[in-house]
Amino acid sequence: MNRRTFIGIDLGTSAMKLLLVDERGEILNAVTKEYPLSFPQPGWSEQRPEDWWQAVLTGVPELLTGFDATEVKGIGAGGQMHGLVALDRNDQVIRPAILWNDGRTAEETAWLNTKIGKEKLSANTGNIAFAGFTAPKLLWMQKHEPENFARIAKIMLPKDYINYQLTGVHSCDFSDASGMLLLDVEHKRWSKEMLDVCGVSESQMPQLFESYEVIGTLRPEISAALGLSTDVKVIAGAGDNAAAAVGTGTVGGGACNISLGTSGTIFISSDRFGVDPGNALHAFAHADGNYHLMGCMLSAASCNKWFCEDILNTSDYAAEQAGITEDKLGNNRVFFLPYLMGERSPINDVDARGTFVGLSLDTTRADMVQSVLEGVAFALRDSLEVARSLGLSIDRSKLCGGGARSPLWRKILTNVLNLPLDIPQTEQGPGYGAAMLAMVGTRAYESVQTCADALCHVRETVLPDPMIAARYEAQYRRFQKIYPAMKGLFPEIK
Ligand code: XUL
Repeated sequence: MNRRTFIGIDLGTSAMKLLLVDERGEILNAVTKEYPLSFPQPGWSEQRPEDWWQAVLTGVPELLTGFDATEVKGIGAGGQMHGLVALDRNDQVIRPAILWNDGRTAEETAWLNTKIGKEKLSANTGNIAFAGFTAPKLLWMQKHEPENFARIAKIMLPKDYINYQLTGVHSCDFSDASGMLLLDVEHKRWSKEMLDVCGVSESQMPQLFESYEVIGTLRPEISAALGLSTDVKVIAGAGDNAAAAVGTGTVGGGACNISLGTSGTIFISSDRFGVDPGNALHAFAHADGNYHLMGCMLSAASCNKWFCEDILNTSDYAAEQAGITEDKLGNNRVFFLPYLMGERSPINDVDARGTFVGLSLDTTRADMVQSVLEGVAFALRDSLEVARSLGLSIDRSKLCGGGARSPLWRKILTNVLNLPLDIPQTEQGPGYGAAMLAMVGTRAYESVQTCADALCHVRETVLPDPMIAARYEAQYRRFQKIYPAMKGLFPEIK
């Protein structure tokens, strides 16, 4: 039989990454296409869906150059979650997408959590409102852009727009839909109550699918533009964290994946639905047909990128980290709060901001770089502590995302979390997971679990060192005092 290949798309915040993968999991080619990200006002974050689609139109032919396009059997996408893409009745984009890390909806979020009430939100959806979620964005649009709101014929999430362009089908999968605050996550259906609260009807919502289900085949004009056959199947795909979890083999019950991307997430898979009673962790559906709990921090690898590129004017991250030797770990007197875009889990505070604490005349550039890496690790530990307080036993985790490429950051993280971290052989995150979901959708594998068993392997494990972990334990106790001390000031200086 001929080789079968699959295209996995990662619709990220800084770029789109496209992968060509064969059914044995080998990555044959990879292409990255960047697009702009705009911050029209402080704390706002937008992108043009047309730019994402352009990245597909130019990226796929480039990806296939030198390969037999007739071997491609399926396409899957994993995408940044929560972004509001609104289409009019001619399926034209109404306004730029409002993204997951956009904090403009503080008022609407507070209104949902107090006036509708956290209990009701949680009972209907499994979650409370966070500024980045889609429902508060709809309320914002209704209030601030009523003429745009009135034109909405279809609401969808970022990767669903790609799927719509490919197939003509308005779809959404359960993992991504979970982050809209419009889905009854446990029962996997739109919540009538929440649609009413947001002033939208079910006919404006896309059709729901499991992540690995086929939503359709390529539209003829699109297949011609991409150089693919009209038989190529497109699957529903997943939110990027669920797709990344699939890509690292984090499926079934009780597995953990940490992603150090633009955002930082801790993702705990589960074979049954469960809610964090404090709602600090999101209770979402997983792309394998089950569920997961997730803590999401809004700025993770982006903190390091910001500090190195925008403040220190360098993109040589390795050089900045070179002088940070093992004896320095757990001994830094500088601390950093990584809340550059406000924060989601677990503090849910759109006004929170980045903060350096403990600077003195002998503070070095390296101390500050180190504090940024450590601050992100401490903030991830905050979500891990919530998970542990729920009685979840997490004794190791996979680690993926761009930040995971730094050996120093891996060492800091394993010691701050006091957790062995398994580094997957294939560090391609959401795109790889999305390609795997396409393999399942086209029956190359019978389930996400069997596909993960066959394709996901651990390359190396990074282990905590008891001495360093003990030092970080004490440092974490200090870190925990900083946000409560600053909290009251943030609304005044935003
Ligand atoms: C998850 C979240 C982020 C984005 C990043 O809830 O908001 O991880 O999906 O792309």
